[in-house]
Amino acid sequence: MSETKMTRRGAMKVISGLLGLGVAAISGVPFLRFLLFPVGVKTVDSGKGFVDIAASTMVSRNAKPVYTEIIVPRVRDAWNTKTNVLLGGTWLVRNNRGALSAFSSVCPHLGCSIQRNKESVNDSVTFFCPCHSSAFSRNGERLSGPSPRGLDLLPVIEKNGRILVQWSNTVSSVNENDQAS
Ligand code: FES
Repeated sequence: MSETKMTRRGAMKVISGLLGLGVAAISGVPFLRFLLFPVGVKTVDSGKGFVDIAASTMVSRNAKPVYTEIIVPRVRDAWNTKTNVLLGGTWLVRNNRGALSAFSSVCPHLGCSIQRNKESVNDSVTFFCPCHSSAFSRNGERLSGPSPRGLDLLPVIEKNGRILVQWSNTVSSVNENDQAS
């Protein structure tokens, strides 16, 4: 009988010990997460996906290119959240078949802001860079100037009557022979 009592007492000790360990483990998890933050946490969240920038009707077939800013509703890092952050700009062009292109407004030479040639819709020089006079066609091809390539295309989709683009800051490295004038 006393052996049975000892066995029960031992079992109770083991069970209460396990319960105590369980409680300690559960209450310790939040503390450990606090200590380790932000390890393993997605700390930056901005501009990775498509950003809604305009109504599709804003860009007509064969019409003048339309400039639009790319603004994300929210940028987050480990400690801060900012709203309505300007990432960059894009020139939107729709051809006569309705296909839409979104060109980065960052000049591929040294990163100045690309401007539209206001003279005419059908000018061969549709875009130019005011810094060193690189010129580009309506299709974004480089026509002249020190730019090492044509305008950079941004991924663009149209959905439910809206235009969405994916921002990427793609200032190129410059060829050694390129000379800024
Ligand atoms: S930065 Fe545009 S041509 Fe130099």
